[in-house]
Amino acid sequence: MVALCCNWCAYAGADLAGVSRRQYSPDIRIVRVMCSSRVDAGLILECFDRGADGVMVLGCHPGDCHYISGNKHEEMRVHNAWELLDLLGIGRERLLLKWISASEGELFGSTVDGFCALMREKGPLRRSSDG
Ligand code: FES
Repeated sequence: MVALCCNWCAYAGADLAGVSRRQYSPDIRIVRVMCSSRVDAGLILECFDRGADGVMVLGCHPGDCHYISGNKHEEMRVHNAWELLDLLGIGRERLLLKWISASEGELFGSTVDGFCALMREKGPLRRSSDG
């Protein structure tokens, strides 16, 4: 699983989870982006193409984006990406959008754990190259 975390909130939340020794599923790879709005459908699809079974986009709460409205734009992008994932047969449930602040280390951990558990339940994403 890949967690695309905005630098200012979700990434700091992940950092807090680590500093607080909040253990969470080791099945994720965290990728830091400056703002959730840096994440477009191309990047999401690239994550799946490179082997991810699920992708999380984690950004600042509404009103807290350091670039004013980046997360609002991202919300629209993710809605479009959900439709695209359904069309491609990947399924929208493999893409999660969530707002996590720098002070929400526990929420970061529980979000990761919940998403990883759901993806384990769904099983690995079958790709055309799997045969
Ligand atoms: Fe965090 Fe924009 S800076 S979502």
